[in-house]
Amino acid sequence: MHFLCPSTALAEGHSRAFSVDGIDLFGVRRQGQVYLYRNRCPHRGIPLNWAQDAFLDDSASLIHCAHHGALFLMESGECVAGPCEGETLQALDCHEDSQGIWLRG
Ligand code: FES
Repeated sequence: MHFLCPSTALAEGHSRAFSVDGIDLFGVRRQGQVYLYRNRCPHRGIPLNWAQDAFLDDSASLIHCAHHGALFLMESGECVAGPCEGETLQALDCHEDSQGIWLRG
């Protein structure tokens, strides 16, 4: 497992970028649960964000791609609007314990 950050570094309704062994990923927290995804938009295969740690739309309830506006569910990574509708972000296995947030595997 790879340690990513303390739990307090990813608050409810926020997102955060990480890099593990040269792989870019990001985490979001919704209703207490952390979800991790590879930072790669299914539309063009490029990172979703322009600004560091900015992966959510204005309502902070959907993941947002800064390039062409695709929107993804935080819980599943499914694209629900935009050019890659119906495709999904690559989910990564997350573990959270008293030390913080970990990437499994
Ligand atoms: S690269 Fe993400 S919507 Fe086009």
